[in-house]
Amino acid sequence: MATRHFLTLLDLSPDELAYLIRRAITIKNGLKTHGPTYTPFSNRTLAMIFEKSSTRTRVSFETAMAQFGGHALFLSPRDTQLGRGEPIGDTARVLSEMVDAVMIRTFSHAGLEEFAAASSVPVINALSDDYHPCQLLADVMTWTECRGSVRGKTAVWIGDGNNMCHSWINAARQFDFQLRICCPEGYDPDPAIAAAAGDRVTILRDPQQAARGADLITTDVWASMGQEEEQAKREADFAGFQVTEALLDQAAKDVLFLHCLPAHRGEEISETLLDDSRAVVWQEAGNRLHAQKALLEFLLLGRVDG
Ligand code: CP
Ligand code: NVA
Repeated sequence: MATRHFLTLLDLSPDELAYLIRRAITIKNGLKTHGPTYTPFSNRTLAMIFEKSSTRTRVSFETAMAQFGGHALFLSPRDTQLGRGEPIGDTARVLSEMVDAVMIRTFSHAGLEEFAAASSVPVINALSDDYHPCQLLADVMTWTECRGSVRGKTAVWIGDGNNMCHSWINAARQFDFQLRICCPEGYDPDPAIAAAAGDRVTILRDPQQAARGADLITTDVWASMGQEEEQAKREADFAGFQVTEALLDQAAKDVLFLHCLPAHRGEEISETLLDDSRAVVWQEAGNRLHAQKALLEFLLLGRVDG
């Protein structure tokens, strides 16, 4: 059977993704009830290549492997041969001989695809310039835990049409919900990615209008990793796109607020938004662990629970 990779949410079917969300919730409940006693990964190894910084992604993947009885290896380009120009394909072939899966956080999505094409073990996108699918597993899991099925509901993305926004678009396609994207002119998501979602995705310019009646509101930093030099220009361009408690008041009464974190208080969110009861960002961050366990289990062992 061909090796399955997880480079975007489109690599899994809607049915498989729905399974992963259910399975992640089951794994989370099992951990709460029994502690880390489920250890299906004895002697399994995950290589983790980080070309960009990370807190949540690194800690959640490493903890997931440890709690499952396996091991994770942190590899940075600074101290591997990747940083000295060893070809991506050669690295993929070498790692495939030794580890059971590879997780990569990188800049170029094309580089990630090149790695996956040469890898005979599953490759997981832990964030590229274009997508952040692992975050969306945790986000949809959190939304589902808090509010039940997300099908037919309305989410609103406020801010930059970036990697997170692209993954929200793919989530709208795969989990069948509506997504309003509200960004300043010049910061729209890739039109091809948005167009592929058909009428599930709408682009708006006015945050008040976008938020009206919404079931969920989410945002992200205005300058992503690799765009640090654009920070000042972006702060000016995104004026008026801050998510505040007053903006959440425009949404449905039981609206939820998500943020992949790290957050910049006083920029894309108000100083106090994360203290609002509608914000469930700590639960969301914690769910990275459970969602990634479900993903790793699926890629290495297949479906184990329906
Ligand atoms: N949300 C997220 O991916 O966080 P890190 O950059 O800390 O991994
Ligand atoms: N869009 C952000 C997400 C960080 C988790 C970035 O790429 O830096």
